[in-house]
Amino acid sequence: MKMETMPVTKGIYNLTDYDEVYKNFNWKSIEDKFSWSETGKINAAYEAIDKHADTFRKNKIALYYRDQEREEKYTFKEMKGLSNKAGNILKNAANVEKGDRVFVFMPRTPELYFIILGAIKLGAIVGPLFEAFMEGAVKDRLHDSEAKVIVTTPELLDRIPINQLPALKKIVVVGENVSAPHIDFLTEMKCASTKLDIVWVEKTDGLLLHYTSGSTGTPKGVLHVHYAMIQHYQTAQWVLDLKEDDVYWCTADPGWVTGTIYGIFGPWLSGTANVIVGGRFNHEAWYKAIEDYGVTVWYSAPTAFRMLMGAGDELINKYDLSSLRHVLSVGEPLNPEVIRWGMKVFQNRIHDTWWMTETGAHTICNYPCLEIRPGSMGKPVPGVEAAIVDDKGNELPPYRMGNLAIKKGWPSMMYAIWNNKEKYDSYFMQGNWYVSGDSAYMDEDGYFWFQGRVDDVILTAGERVGPFEIESKLVEHPAVAEAGVIGKPDPIRGEIIKAFIALREGYSDTEELREEIYTFVKSGLAAHAAPREIEFRDKLPKTRSGKIMRRVLKAWELNLPAGDLSTMED
Ligand code: WTA
Repeated sequence: MKMETMPVTKGIYNLTDYDEVYKNFNWKSIEDKFSWSETGKINAAYEAIDKHADTFRKNKIALYYRDQEREEKYTFKEMKGLSNKAGNILKNAANVEKGDRVFVFMPRTPELYFIILGAIKLGAIVGPLFEAFMEGAVKDRLHDSEAKVIVTTPELLDRIPINQLPALKKIVVVGENVSAPHIDFLTEMKCASTKLDIVWVEKTDGLLLHYTSGSTGTPKGVLHVHYAMIQHYQTAQWVLDLKEDDVYWCTADPGWVTGTIYGIFGPWLSGTANVIVGGRFNHEAWYKAIEDYGVTVWYSAPTAFRMLMGAGDELINKYDLSSLRHVLSVGEPLNPEVIRWGMKVFQNRIHDTWWMTETGAHTICNYPCLEIRPGSMGKPVPGVEAAIVDDKGNELPPYRMGNLAIKKGWPSMMYAIWNNKEKYDSYFMQGNWYVSGDSAYMDEDGYFWFQGRVDDVILTAGERVGPFEIESKLVEHPAVAEAGVIGKPDPIRGEIIKAFIALREGYSDTEELREEIYTFVKSGLAAHAAPREIEFRDKLPKTRSGKIMRRVLKAWELNLPAGDLSTMED
């Protein structure tokens, strides 16, 4: 079979000879770029902002921000002063100290970035939350991490069940009319000092705590440490290919790991101008942002590309997108059709990148200097060893499908699962393979091809959602006896969430009940977690030990054979 390929586009790239670099690369060579090589200590927020503020970059724009109401820009020097102010507020008014968990629960605005950076300057561990989260989702995460401080807006304040969170000491509110005991961030900003003593930390001190879903249990807190920054930086060089004059735009929210690692650290460790567009996805506003800012490097996700593709090419012709030179995608499989469309309308290949919250940075990618094979995620980042292994951890030859695994020891690897060593250890096979939960195969040239999740994790519009969290919410509804949740293939969103429900005695299948259950999950967890499709069944398939068999539900849905049913109850 002849494989479709897209050749390298002419250009000068940071990574020019992949094979050569892959063979000889050692992460130690990157360590020297950061302060620990001199002082033994480090702080990622210093490296991302303050360091540049004391160089030729001081008056360079670090942040271009816009939403429907605001349009602002900040230099590295201004970012340093403003994040220092935010740090001083957290330190003086909220007593934030090294190691404390500080959560941010607010929309993307410049203040969100000042606060994240300010908290990190104090050595705090930042836990970002999507603003879409409702009370139940917020509570689980703050409770598990014993967060001390949360920063939010007046609109979201009601979703923080403060009485049920004994460790939570202070709420900082960014907005108007803030009343005590909460801290009024905007008023405090007016007089806070722009000078702050950075708290220098060890390489293995905590930086970020991202909660993410698996197929069982409540969300887990994935801890990343300051040392990971060497991979944030180096992949921003090789994969994002950032250079001094680039204008870079990552469309992800910091509630998602892409929005922190490549919305904050990748670009700013590289000293690059970073565009942040607040608000929701909007075709015209997105194209206009590329045109107005002259975006050169653009990082987004398949769902967004599919929505843009669906909106038609006439729309594109209204904008000048010729500034784009490098386009990337992450989060779900990137359809070859989307890559072909990108070639046509942006005159750019779309470069797929594969990684996870747990891997902490890019691990398998398409680089500007390599040909693209549409449908493949690309090849391992230099310094990262990937393989396909069987269920015992033995490496498999090319074209055999198996578990996508990464050899332990890459710098941005998760450092811990918060308070759950057993869970952390369970990710590793034979001690040294991190097993991703994705299945894939490798071709004979070392390109990796994604096949699906091994577990029941759902990827909907790029969000990773655990079925268990939704099922648990569903059974809290008085009408629901049992619930099983699966991802159902969808042309735009990749997958949508579908719930199978067995009703309690006395309830019957009505459209109103379906709506009510949908709203119940939406208002209890988050809109993206609510099942867009609900099907009532008299009984759900279960194992003898009472576990809902999601794979059988999936087979029902897709009209496929259900496989081995020996463990199913009668
Ligand atoms: C999926 C996102 C196919 C995969 C940074 C992975 C992908 C999960 C790709 C992690 C890709 C991510 N092609 N699937 N390029 N990138 N995934 O933790 O199933 O939100 O395990 O991190 O998304 O999702 P997470």
